[in-house]
Amino acid sequence: MSDLSVQLETPTAGKYTQPTGLFINNEFVKGVDGKTFEVINPTTEEVITSVHEATEKDVDIAVAAARKAFEGPWRKETPENRGRYLNNLANLFEKNLDLLAAVESLDNGKAISMAKVDISMCAGCLRYYGGWADKIEGKVIDTTPDTFNYVRKEPIGVCGQIIPWNFPLLMWAWKIGPAIACGNTIVLKSAEQTPLGALVAASLIKEAGFPPGVINIISGFGKVAGAAIASHMDVDKVAFTGSTVVGRQIMKAAAGSNLKKVTLELGGKSPNIVFEDADIDNAISWVNFGIFFNHGQCCCAGSRIYVQESIYDTFVQKFKERASKNVVGDPFAKDTFQGPQVSQVQFDRIMSYIKQGKEAGAKVEIGGERKGDKGYFIEPTIFSNVTEDMKIVQEEIFGPVCSISKFKDKEDAIRVGNSTTYGLAAAVHTKNLNTAIEVSNALKAGTAYNTLHHQMPFGGFKESGIGRELGEAALDNYTQTKTVSIRLGDALFG
Ligand code: NAI
Ligand code: MG
Repeated sequence: MSDLSVQLETPTAGKYTQPTGLFINNEFVKGVDGKTFEVINPTTEEVITSVHEATEKDVDIAVAAARKAFEGPWRKETPENRGRYLNNLANLFEKNLDLLAAVESLDNGKAISMAKVDISMCAGCLRYYGGWADKIEGKVIDTTPDTFNYVRKEPIGVCGQIIPWNFPLLMWAWKIGPAIACGNTIVLKSAEQTPLGALVAASLIKEAGFPPGVINIISGFGKVAGAAIASHMDVDKVAFTGSTVVGRQIMKAAAGSNLKKVTLELGGKSPNIVFEDADIDNAISWVNFGIFFNHGQCCCAGSRIYVQESIYDTFVQKFKERASKNVVGDPFAKDTFQGPQVSQVQFDRIMSYIKQGKEAGAKVEIGGERKGDKGYFIEPTIFSNVTEDMKIVQEEIFGPVCSISKFKDKEDAIRVGNSTTYGLAAAVHTKNLNTAIEVSNALKAGTAYNTLHHQMPFGGFKESGIGRELGEAALDNYTQTKTVSIRLGDALFG
């Protein structure tokens, strides 16, 4: 493939021009080695197009562009203008909402109604951080009368950002917003399963007003381009969202290279706890959404459901009825709730967990099979009769699969809730405020389910990650503190 764009068509947004190059210095370019890779439509299993692949050499070029921008024009840019460009980008996301959502559905398979929500959340996030750009302030600290001390919040520099495929554009916005607000420059690598949306969004960057080299977007594989970012000697910070296994590799690469700063948003195996006094229908809606939203491909999916003994049987019955109404099918159909899983690899991984669960003696309450014979569709699946040591209860499945079991009382709920190496999300359903606060305080988890909002910090305890995205908290990931001291009196040591 020699061209830098192709004409594609989506059922909801019609024909459009899909960029396929690497976005470096505000231009789309080919990779140095001329490599490309195929992008698969998970609904049809057919090839959509090919895009240019970044190798180590392209990472070097993108990092050099980001370094040049950081040390040059971007350092001199006013905070007000950084905010202005982010606001412009937010407006462009809104203006192109239908197209961006359609590209997400095409490439990732997510339901179009949900993809539209993702794009408005992208705009919200970019606009929110646009608002922060001119509010990043330092401090004056008095120590002795003959010194004047101040603390500045400075950008870190060139930030490498590696994002996953489950929310391709939302992760793009979560990463870019705070990094830009704080005055950094960026080399962002999209996930190899879903490069298309990132490139359409890249085509808006120049129009938003960003100078060349400030935001560079590359497509490529984790082991090649991702690893090159993580171990690069001129990348000052790496922010990663993805699996815990790769999170560990990123930390090792940072440790083995230039000790770049690291933030990680990793996996989860999050508990959803329902007490006997909960409004049962309401709890079922939340539990259903908690696990089946985005086809279960959420780091904060509520995949372990615990229900108090006295209401367990009723709950299971009603939950089955609710989950079997989830519409699984064509992501472009208006009423679809669940589309296909993102890739053959993810499909196979989930089906193998389902097989293991069955073999280990768990009971399939509903689902447990592939849906249809084309596309990576899997039936919403609920396992009961599980024990805490089963793989399906301990490991992140990242698909429409959950386990449900009983607990006795508050202490028991806290114990099972925390019986995981992860600590991303948790929820408590009860009408008793004391129970709600006591249990949620005792759960080692960083956030609630799918109530994501750009104003609220998001991130995990334990092996679910390091650092917090969103909210004011994310600014800590992208600034460093400089302490300056001016001696006013005589020199201290004569
Ligand atoms: P992954 O962790 O391999 O991929 C995420 C990103 O990291 C992609 O951009 C990938 O190219 C990059 N990457 C992969 N290996 C790398 C390396 N050695 N150095 C630098 N970057 C690298 O996740 P994958 O294989 O796509 O999914 C596997 C499992 O990970 C899922 O089943 C799920 O359990 C979990 N996951 C969690 C996510 C979350 O939101 N926390 C998102 C995606 C996956
Ligand atoms: Mg991978």
